[in-house]
Amino acid sequence: MDKYAVWGNPIAQSKSPQIHRLFAEQTQQLMEYKAILGDEQRFEQQLSTFFKNGGKGCNITAPFKERAFKIANQFSERCLVAEACNTLKILDDGSLYADNTDGIGLVSDLQRLNCLKSNQSILILGAGGATKGVLLPLLQAQQNITIINRTFSKAQQLAEKFQPYGNIQAVDITYIPKQSFDLVINATSLGLQGKTLNINPLILQQAQAVYDMQYSKGQDTPFIALCKQLGVKNTNDGFGMLVGQAAHSFELWRGIKPNIEPILDLIK
Ligand code: ATR
Repeated sequence: MDKYAVWGNPIAQSKSPQIHRLFAEQTQQLMEYKAILGDEQRFEQQLSTFFKNGGKGCNITAPFKERAFKIANQFSERCLVAEACNTLKILDDGSLYADNTDGIGLVSDLQRLNCLKSNQSILILGAGGATKGVLLPLLQAQQNITIINRTFSKAQQLAEKFQPYGNIQAVDITYIPKQSFDLVINATSLGLQGKTLNINPLILQQAQAVYDMQYSKGQDTPFIALCKQLGVKNTNDGFGMLVGQAAHSFELWRGIKPNIEPILDLIK
């Protein structure tokens, strides 16, 4: 049976095994998919052993995405610019192909939610790895992007790096332009600390929709809870992005794209 896995640390909470099992059932693929706890010291060795023992591909999650990127031999363009990899596939000649399906997973989910028309204005909160992973697919979907971040210099660096791909700017968190945004995306890791970024509430209230790249089981994330409190009607968490990125990884490995909608319903 073809072997796949997801690597992370921690990993027990990962929904990927369940998602890929359902994809495999839906598309009638004979494959196994396990969650593996990555060792901070020996991650590269572990990965190499997995592929030597016949592993066909894997997903990579925190904190190993940048390390997996460094191991790979060939890259998709979106992976190269993200400088981080969430999907590896072994090629026939034994080399490792790296992709990053986070951004396309987000774009697919925004399309599914009817939140992605071309030429929209999007405000992204945060300028870490999560933001870098999704910028290219968003720009390729003709979105105009403004980034804000606690550390302004990091937002500026990202805007400079991605300028060749589309319309993107960084602004100081205290001087967000008084335009209304079609969509505000939370890409900070603050939700993990039960917090949200401190910005002018009007920015959220005037947005047509908000999206949190994080999700949390059975309850609203802190960002979604805040937006609801402020009266924002169209609020979405990142669960659909999770299933979306998984679907694009699955397609890369198996050559068949699963239908996301029934899987979302099943897991929810
Ligand atoms: P990830 O891979 O999840 O993006 P990261 O690269 O560490 O993780 O980035 C975390 C993001 O959340 C950054 O935008 C970070 O802001 P800084 O660049 O200023 O560090 C943001 N973030 C994390 N903790 C924060 C806090 N307490 N206040 C404001 N922003 C925070």
